[in-house]
Amino acid sequence: MPEENDKGAGKPTGLLGTVKETVKGDLAGLKGVLVEKGKEELAALKEPEKTQLFRSIFRVKRDETPRSRALSVLTNVFFHLHPAKINRDAVRYSYTWGMGGMSFYLFLVLTITGVLLMFYYHPTKGQAYRDILYLHHDVPFGQLLRNMHRWGAHLMIIAVWLHMLRVFLTGSYKRPREFNWCVGVILMVLTLLLSFTGYLLPDDQLGFWAVTVGTNMARATPLLGHEGPFGAQLGMTAFNDVRFALLGGSIVDANALLRAYIWHCIAIPLIASVFMGVHFWRVRKDGGISGPAPVMLESEMKEEKKGPRPVILRPSGTR
Ligand code: HEM
Repeated sequence: MPEENDKGAGKPTGLLGTVKETVKGDLAGLKGVLVEKGKEELAALKEPEKTQLFRSIFRVKRDETPRSRALSVLTNVFFHLHPAKINRDAVRYSYTWGMGGMSFYLFLVLTITGVLLMFYYHPTKGQAYRDILYLHHDVPFGQLLRNMHRWGAHLMIIAVWLHMLRVFLTGSYKRPREFNWCVGVILMVLTLLLSFTGYLLPDDQLGFWAVTVGTNMARATPLLGHEGPFGAQLGMTAFNDVRFALLGGSIVDANALLRAYIWHCIAIPLIASVFMGVHFWRVRKDGGISGPAPVMLESEMKEEKKGPRPVILRPSGTR
């Protein structure tokens, strides 16, 4: 067989030849594996939900079965505050006015713009008003930032009041939501306090006199104000009563500015965040947003034919 002999004529023989052949074979194999892997990764880019990483984050099968839909809500830290199932008529804007969500959205906007404002602001008598002028006239987008914070604050007050009005008009303060109404009242007070403490921070005439008038009212607090009922009997004076505690002194000055700043930027937002967490959790625990009672569609009624007759609730009814 002369042809076979010719083929092997140029090849190295012995140990070196065997090693070279093996390495060649391995490299060819590796190339094949890499190409396969590359193809797989390319395919994964087109369908990311099939990758192991995706499955380790979203652990539930993504299909339309009620079980998978419920599980995908329950196993997600951001979704689990929501109930797995909701009454579609209770989440309509015509019922909720969307004002609870709007209040929360504005709170987030105010937090972000507030943190940005803190980069330019010093809570001292010499600096505060200058910082505001600097922000307004020299900082790029400073005026926009300040106005977003200011108008956001006005809007949040309006949104919270409208939300409370809606809750009142739909009777959603009734059993079992009495506790959440009380949490809401605390949130309302905290929102107003945020607005009030922010008022002083520019240290302009408007803020100064607003806080002077506001804290003067604290003199008349029952028991805790030196001009309030039973205040004098309890030993309250202008130098130890609740007004003194608010201002850090007996006049609106540097201490009052610092106290307003700390309440406004740290303490009240933190307390409000905790109460908002409780408020949202409570909405969920009280059976979701209150109503109106679910309406059964005609298509759903046909499916139920085999079983016992469904109770059809009218939209005007309550749960
Ligand atoms: C910072 C202020 C507040 C935020 C961010 C907030 C947020 C929310 C949200 C997102 C809901 C879900 C339903 C909806 O959007 O209407 C809700 C429900 C509720 N809120 Fe508020 N809320 C605030 C203040 C208040 C106030 C001032 C009250 C009453 C005094 C209140 C009482 C309630 C009640 C009782 C529910 C349950 C309503 C239902 O089931 O229909 N909330 N809140």
